[in-house]
Amino acid sequence: MGMGSDMYRQQILDHYKNPRNHGALEDPTFSHVGENPSCGDTIQIDVQLADDGETIEYVSFSGDGCAISQASASMLTQQLPGMTLDELSEMDTDDVVDMLGVDISPMRIKCAVLAEKVVQDGAKIHEGELDLDETTTEE
Ligand code: FES
Repeated sequence: MGMGSDMYRQQILDHYKNPRNHGALEDPTFSHVGENPSCGDTIQIDVQLADDGETIEYVSFSGDGCAISQASASMLTQQLPGMTLDELSEMDTDDVVDMLGVDISPMRIKCAVLAEKVVQDGAKIHEGELDLDETTTEE
């Protein structure tokens, strides 16, 4: 494990201990909640879109879970503003792993992608493409 990897691990711990954009938005365009059923950890994501109805303006999250799931949610709240809903829909697991910057074991992939799946499903529900109460990371 090189220095670079250590730096990313520190960054994950920092996001876990000092989550960015934690809490609820006052007037979200949509919010959605999801759970990793293997552990019961949950994440709720609130998204406010810009006036064009396409561009993500603000994102916040709340929830309980392991360091990777919570850090991933915290990092996403910083990464998503400025992206369009189309760009969001194209994000995949590799993008989340790249964002985290460390190797994620297959066991922890569900932790890493929980927030991404929640916000993607929330966007699809908002756009009328999906009818779902709660997201789970069960495939
Ligand atoms: Fe529950 Fe990671 S152990 S999301």
